[in-house]
Amino acid sequence: MKLAVSILAADFSRLGDDLKQAEAAGAHYAHIDVMDGHFVPNISIGVPVVASLRKRSNLIFDVHLMISNPMDYIEAFAKTGADIINFHIEANGNPKEIIEKIRDFGKRPAITLNPDTPVEAVFPYLGLVDMVLVMSVFPGFGGQTFINEALERARSLRKYIDDNGFKTLIEMDGGIYCENVGQVIDAGVDVVVAGSAVFGSTNIEGAVKAFYDRSKGGF
Ligand code: DX5
Ligand code: ZN
Repeated sequence: MKLAVSILAADFSRLGDDLKQAEAAGAHYAHIDVMDGHFVPNISIGVPVVASLRKRSNLIFDVHLMISNPMDYIEAFAKTGADIINFHIEANGNPKEIIEKIRDFGKRPAITLNPDTPVEAVFPYLGLVDMVLVMSVFPGFGGQTFINEALERARSLRKYIDDNGFKTLIEMDGGIYCENVGQVIDAGVDVVVAGSAVFGSTNIEGAVKAFYDRSKGGF
């Protein structure tokens, strides 16, 4: 398991320091939630914040675009320091063209599925992306309750990926805490996103370490 800390739950007035603490404790990815107030009913952060954080962090930046027109922003996020660009299959645009554009900028493409989108929708793209993100909440807000059906969805994706010999990683996002991370890993998830569980804690380093302790050494 690799841990992606979601900064949506951090104190935005000291984002760089909070991220540094998570990095020091062994987090692998910074999961950065970008919302446009249109694809989801919330607005979060954009390109300048990613650019500033890039100067302070060596983590792999996993930029989760919850925006209607991902094609229009790939260049900007690629140039400001994204490593992985995650776009929603439900967004506008041709997924193959979006994936190609992300690769053209030398970045790793990932495709995200909302909880009510059939997993089969991403099957044609699994050989083209580095990672598939299975949402375990409806996107837009941190601190929501985990949707249990996400586990079965991850299991069927895991099977399809393995049966076809793909190398695609599975990521899961939303409502994951130490209490349920074991189930998430057992379902075949490689990258676990945690927001509230890490940045909602008064002890960020302790919270990151607790995740790794609970993952039974499987990272
Ligand atoms: C939700 C975001 C998540 C969110 C997860 O729209 O995509 O990344 O920050 O937060 P928690 O871990 O609090 O559910
Ligand atoms: Zn996210």
